[in-house]
Amino acid sequence: MITKPTIDRIMEATDIVEVIGDFVQLKKRGANYVGLSPFANERTPSFTVSPVKGIFKDFSTGKGGSAVTFLMELEKFTYPEALKWLAKKYGIEVEETVETVENNEENQHLESLRIVSAYAGKFFHETLLETDEGKNIGLSYFKERGFNNEVIKKFELGYSPDQWEAFTSQALKDGYRAEYLIESGLSVKRDNETLYDRYRGRIIFPIHSATGKIVGFGGRTLLRDKNVPKYVNSPESPIYNKSNILYGFYFAQKAIRSKDKCYLVEGYADVISVFQSGIENVVASSGTSLTEQQVRLIKKQTSNLTILYDGDSAGIKAAIRGFSLLYKDKLTVRIVTFPDGHDPDSYVRSVGSTAFENYIEKSSKGIVEFYLTTIQEDELKDPIKKIKVADDLAEILSNNLEPEFRSSYTRQVAERLKIDERNFINLVNKLILAKVKKESSQIRPTPEFEEDIQDRVEIDSSKLSEEESSLLYAEQSQEKEIVRLLLSYGNKMIDWDGIANTYIGPFMIAELSDVEFEHPASKAFVEIYSREVENGVLPDEQHFIHYPDKDIVDLTVNLISTKYTLSENWYEMHRILVPDEQVNMKATILGAIFHLKKQKVGKILQNLRKELQKTDVEADQEILLSQYIHMKKVEKTISDYLGSVILK
Ligand code: UTP
Ligand code: MN
Repeated sequence: MITKPTIDRIMEATDIVEVIGDFVQLKKRGANYVGLSPFANERTPSFTVSPVKGIFKDFSTGKGGSAVTFLMELEKFTYPEALKWLAKKYGIEVEETVETVENNEENQHLESLRIVSAYAGKFFHETLLETDEGKNIGLSYFKERGFNNEVIKKFELGYSPDQWEAFTSQALKDGYRAEYLIESGLSVKRDNETLYDRYRGRIIFPIHSATGKIVGFGGRTLLRDKNVPKYVNSPESPIYNKSNILYGFYFAQKAIRSKDKCYLVEGYADVISVFQSGIENVVASSGTSLTEQQVRLIKKQTSNLTILYDGDSAGIKAAIRGFSLLYKDKLTVRIVTFPDGHDPDSYVRSVGSTAFENYIEKSSKGIVEFYLTTIQEDELKDPIKKIKVADDLAEILSNNLEPEFRSSYTRQVAERLKIDERNFINLVNKLILAKVKKESSQIRPTPEFEEDIQDRVEIDSSKLSEEESSLLYAEQSQEKEIVRLLLSYGNKMIDWDGIANTYIGPFMIAELSDVEFEHPASKAFVEIYSREVENGVLPDEQHFIHYPDKDIVDLTVNLISTKYTLSENWYEMHRILVPDEQVNMKATILGAIFHLKKQKVGKILQNLRKELQKTDVEADQEILLSQYIHMKKVEKTISDYLGSVILK
């Protein structure tokens, strides 16, 4: 770990304008600098750097943070990598602490598993290239499939001899410990404690981590026997977490970034074949559907994912519902299938890379569009099936995929299903509202809020766009308001009725000690703040801007960099009235605290009501009821207090 004094020295030396200036052309405008966003294609500059606050904010993508976060976003650096980059720029020597003993033990364990996996990779690869059995069976199979030497070497393809213990006995002889052979899944233990090879007589596809280390294997049989499993794969291990890893990602990431697009295929063989043709931005999810972690991995490099399917459309359709949730707000997804039973592997070999990419360009479809093409005539004749189709489509549309096409899609759906478009729009809106409610219920579940939404539904649900709904959600987020106040005023003094001066931060923390925060980043923020206060420190904006946690930095920057604080003429341009909350500081602070408390009480009351409905046991009912009455009183006290003391 980089030491605190080194981090402080780096932060002190860092001039955010200078750092960002290395990547973006910046022009001075008032107190700030502006430029074209490096994260988006734009013509009018919306990317703003504030040297005073030491932050940047990109209004076109919403990204923002410190010089460190900027480097992490743009260069995909880790936190220590970004610090080291800055240290190099400013000629600062980096001091690092030695890992603790415990860490060391854990690291050594992982390292041992990596070492034994690397050893096995080498063993299988050499067996393929250098033994008679490997060459005659494994290598000739790869050659037959058209794999050239270059990809065979690059992907470190291999072959495991058709014997029970060829690998295991060699590994033990070379000094590798049985426990690691077992834990990595390379060897399997018999009842009599002896070991045998997991992969026998199979060609081997090593699976690499995002940093290029071998962490697992897929072994494919060459037999056509239906009773023999086609692939035998490594089990999960401390270094191989299947849901985190994408096959081929290590080799693809550079091309994914430069082409700003990622192709997802189903099989190992597809990855290698497509890669060999010169299309290198290709990965596979290894036989399962994509996980959220894998989506995140892709999302770091690009927002454009094209899924190359070789399945039949029924299978794809089943997968689509799950997709829309997974990709929500994250990736723009297109789907393509191949003609005449082709898969990506066979198709690219038959038509070549240019025609292959042209085909994808021409034939890929957005998720909704794709779903529309899979609808069969018989589904439209059977009313029950038709409702299912409409439900599916409404579900997909409600996840805000391709919002720019939503109105065109609702029309297409209505035409295709021969239903009334307004009814369908209402169905979509109902789902959107249900989701907003569900999300908001984690932050503001008061009955008033639900009524609020209900009112809006009745007014005109079809007019409420996703954007408005999410604004509504944002407005309700009172926990963030607390965080904002802590950031802006926590280290300022306040005079309570001329009695005593107090710092606002510790006062708020003490007042909120009985409140449980729900919003994860706000919760973490308040915890950090309390800890600092306990240590006698009043953390300021800078403390949180440079905090080594992305969620905290994001929350901070979003709360302090509204358009009107960063862009001087924004206020006039939009004639926005900024209420001067500092005029009545006391009302601002107490208002925020007690509105939040009232909300939390509302949530408790709601839960008690639910419990009451559920139980028939009289004794339980009595207890619940007395709790209910008590909380009602608390609620009333808070309301009275808010009404009398705070004019808000
Ligand atoms: P495929 O059968 O399409 O595999 O399964 P492939 O890699 O394209 O193999 P070829 O072209 O027949 O040689 C797709 C993926 O599903 C997983 C593997 O990850 C495979 O690459 N799979 C498939 C298994 O894990 N086990 C199986 O038995 C079959
Ligand atoms: Mn295949």
